[in-house]
Amino acid sequence: MKELLKLNRFFYKYKGTVLLGVLFLVMANGFLVWIPVLIRQTMDAVEKIGNEYEFSFSSTWEVLISPEAGTILATNSFFLMLAVVCYGILLYATRQTLIVTSRKIEYDMRNEIYDKIQKLPQSYYTRNSTGDIYVRATEDVMRVREYFGPAFMYMINTISRAGIIITIMILVNPVLTMWALLPLPILSVFAYFVSGYIHKRSNAIQEQYAKLAGRAQESFSSIRLIKAFSREEHEAQRFEEESEVYRKKKLKLDIVESLFHPILSLMIGASIVLVLWQGGIMVIEGLITVGNIAEFIIDVTYLTWPVASLGYTINLIQRSAASQERIAKMMREAEESVETDRNDYEILSENESVDIEFQNVSFIYPGSDEAALKNISFKIKSGKKVAFVGRTGSGKTSLIQLIPRIFNPTAGKVLVNGKDYLSYKLSELRKNIGFVPQDTFLFSSTIKDNICFGVQDASISEIETAAERAQILDNINDFENKFETVLGERGITLSGGQKQRTSIARALIRNPKILILDDSLSAVDTNTEDQILKYLRDSFINTTTIIVSHRISSVKDADEIFVLDNGQILESGTHQQLLKQKGYYANMYKKQLLEKELAEL
Ligand SMILES: Nc1ncnc2c1ncn2[C@@H]1O[C@H](COP(=O)(O)OP(=O)(O)OP(=O)(O)O)[C@@H](O)[C@H]1O
Ligand SMILES: [Mg+2]
Repeated sequence: MKELLKLNRFFYKYKGTVLLGVLFLVMANGFLVWIPVLIRQTMDAVEKIGNEYEFSFSSTWEVLISPEAGTILATNSFFLMLAVVCYGILLYATRQTLIVTSRKIEYDMRNEIYDKIQKLPQSYYTRNSTGDIYVRATEDVMRVREYFGPAFMYMINTISRAGIIITIMILVNPVLTMWALLPLPILSVFAYFVSGYIHKRSNAIQEQYAKLAGRAQESFSSIRLIKAFSREEHEAQRFEEESEVYRKKKLKLDIVESLFHPILSLMIGASIVLVLWQGGIMVIEGLITVGNIAEFIIDVTYLTWPVASLGYTINLIQRSAASQERIAKMMREAEESVETDRNDYEILSENESVDIEFQNVSFIYPGSDEAALKNISFKIKSGKKVAFVGRTGSGKTSLIQLIPRIFNPTAGKVLVNGKDYLSYKLSELRKNIGFVPQDTFLFSSTIKDNICFGVQDASISEIETAAERAQILDNINDFENKFETVLGERGITLSGGQKQRTSIARALIRNPKILILDDSLSAVDTNTEDQILKYLRDSFINTTTIIVSHRISSVKDADEIFVLDNGQILESGTHQQLLKQKGYYANMYKKQLLEKELAEL
């Protein structure tokens, strides 16, 4: 709740519109309450005229068309219409101000949150599921908007309408007011519990729906696998089971929801009966007029929704508060690096190439208790091409992702040009790194957008050069729309090797000082691989390059090769040196040579 109150700063930002909205709403209620007053006046006036001329009119009809009654009817009808029209216009204006403001606040909040999410460190993403983070930025923001929009509007509406109506009722007759209002608190409490129940159930239903949708999505995207293993029946069965759970939950909610309206009507009915009964007695006793009874009945119906919405609003606010609590928790998370008022950052000058040194670096993944890297030390001179090999799970990816500081080392130091790399501005460091991750990710956009992802305003010749160096240019030129070809769900799907090369082009176009390829040549044939490696040697002379691979062919020409095992460096040296050592590398070489010979047979 405290967190929610802190958000009132948003109200302050839009204070003009909010105040105007409140004014509109109060005025709207003023006009609404005028309606029963006019009806009472008309009824009383007509009744009076009818009594006065009791003997000269032969029918009610004649009373109504008599000049006296005619005037009253005409003016009051006009006022009635005026009240209804004004009420309508003001209600529209209220929504246009209050609800529109809540949308604007939602927009502000969502941007703030998205901004924050982008700045959170990788370790946050390891601790929290993507779905969870997604819900924070969408559903939770939506819930909080309800506090600014509907909840606030209903609250003002309830207060202003009930205030005006109850005052008028008390002025007419306090005792009758008490009778009329008797069932309403019950209604409010009832609405509170029912909306609470509905909310809880809807959440469960929503979760079940997400499960159902997830299942469907998984089946559709793995349809090839399902067909190949002929698991269609089985999949359909699994879907039906989830669907059945969903149906049952939904039906249970429907029962409660369908009870709500009859009970609402029952309460209004009770109010009306009380007014007629007690009011009737009062009319006979001459305390009030018949018009008053009509007025009270209309007033009571006008009160129903605001009173019922009181319970609903309290629920809404509780929900918003819970959502805001979760958002606030995320907003308090530490950001990736505090780059505020420091101005003593080291910088990498334009033409300087970079050397990298690891000093006793160890690394443990957040939430894990086993070290992925243990006491790693090595040095890469600027412009050198080095390689990391090792069995799967040996720590290659873990090691290279420390360089762009996707994670920071748990112990030890990384030096860039002899200085601790923590003393460089994070964005400055990353700006100079071209990174090709192991799991290629391409956006559902054009090839051009994908290649230019890390650069601003690249010229077409730069894009072509990058594509050529990554050996993907010919493929792209074969496509009908060339660089404008759309990839992903709405476009064509590239082959594994084409994806890898597009991803390499994306890194090369940045002309990085450090280039990291994490097993990025695994899906290309050896000829293409040779071509790419040749370009890397010839065109990126000053770029410090790190290649991770399982293939000897990718690494044999490297200036230095490191063999990783179990998070430690097992061997290091050039291809020739390592062969002489007759260790892991030599073994790996023998096996791959044998495979090649077998393949050529
Ligand atoms: N996000 C993570 N959280 C916890 N442990 C992880 C995480 N990612 C990897 N590991 C663990 O760290 C170790 C090293 O993994 P890493 O991905 O660095 O291996 P790799 O050498 O790149 O393997 P591959 O050749 O298969 O890509 C493995 O034991 C793995 O289980
Ligand atoms: Mg890896």
